[in-house]
Amino acid sequence: MKNIVFLFLLILLACHSKKQEKINGELTQKVIHPRIYWTENPASHAIVSWTSLEEGAEHKVYYDTISHNDIKHYSLFTESASNGKITVRKEDLLSGAPSAYYHHTELEGLQSGKKYFFRFCSDNTCSPEYFFITAERNSQNLSVLYGGDSRVGEEDEEDNNPAAHATRKKMNKLIAKMLVQRPEIKALIHGADYAMDATWKHLYFWFNDHELTITPEGRVLPLIISRGNHDHEIGFTENFRLGKITEQNSDGYYYTTRLTDSIALITLNTETSMAGYQYKWLKKELPKARAANKWLLVQYHKPAYPAVKDFDREDFVRVRKYWVPLFEENRVDIALESDGHALKKTVPILKNKPDPKGIIYIGEGGLGVPQRNPHPERWYFTNGGHASSDHHVWLLDIAADSMKVKAFGANGEQILDFPLKSKYH
Ligand SMILES: [Fe+2]
Ligand SMILES: [Fe+2]
Repeated sequence: MKNIVFLFLLILLACHSKKQEKINGELTQKVIHPRIYWTENPASHAIVSWTSLEEGAEHKVYYDTISHNDIKHYSLFTESASNGKITVRKEDLLSGAPSAYYHHTELEGLQSGKKYFFRFCSDNTCSPEYFFITAERNSQNLSVLYGGDSRVGEEDEEDNNPAAHATRKKMNKLIAKMLVQRPEIKALIHGADYAMDATWKHLYFWFNDHELTITPEGRVLPLIISRGNHDHEIGFTENFRLGKITEQNSDGYYYTTRLTDSIALITLNTETSMAGYQYKWLKKELPKARAANKWLLVQYHKPAYPAVKDFDREDFVRVRKYWVPLFEENRVDIALESDGHALKKTVPILKNKPDPKGIIYIGEGGLGVPQRNPHPERWYFTNGGHASSDHHVWLLDIAADSMKVKAFGANGEQILDFPLKSKYH
């Protein structure tokens, strides 16, 4: 008799878990595209964003510093601050992208350097559990990835289908692998030009591919975003949100990220006026950030020292005219650039000349976009610089006084490696 009861219980349990599996299977298809955005204070704040396939009425993130197998057990939850229908045209649907809704939730009051487990839910439909790690306020060390340009290329026919972007997928898998091997990596700084354009036809597949950066144990790598010339459509502001930031115009996409108490990153926007309000902001922000940080990094999309395109292009001239003098005056430690589609590292540059006291510019876009032929003969690449046609992602290993900067190719091979000393004094 005992055996029969046991068998019955076993069958009941099996049926139950099968039903759960099925429910979960259906549920996870309706809430997709997990991502984390870091803005100004990633030690205490993060934005959790996702896509739902149904409009829903209630959108929440459940989170905790310990893992749970049921949303009922999470000690914290926050309602989504921003929800809406993603702009979808006929051609987006024809590409296979479904009509969908965006959700952005601001988690505040987080503890520094902590692992946060989370699930996002639209009505009763919840994602599986993921986790991310907040920035560590007191640390002198930091490892971050930098890369840009993950769009399909018009020059590569096979890659023109956004659903079949093999190189981008490969780079994203490499990022997940690096994250497993080096769990100290805290974020991915993205130099923009995410997709061919910011229409849903392209962004839907970009977000699908972004899921490949998630590790097998469910770790989501926070993104620090900038805006590029392929990110102008409304889909960008719908799906890449900075939320509440100090600057009144978060649509300006320029802001300072306090990566630790002694390391700051200023993200700038080359797609809006470089000489107007942004310039005034930067002029005030740079000296403050320099005085308060051992390390001061800047990132923006279009390069001051291009590897591929014409040196005298108007946008590049503007970066050199308005921003570079401020970078030099405030002893910026390194500049991260994208847009060109090549691997580059300049010699240190000061007042438009090689100078050991100057700034090194690295880049410039290799997260999947077809690579172009750069100009390694330009003065800022000879005698210690580098320019080549290689898909790549950069790893910055920052310690108290020195930084190791490395570029890895699509197969995880190390291509470049150089040290940097902090200019703080
Ligand atoms: Fe670009
Ligand atoms: Fe680009």
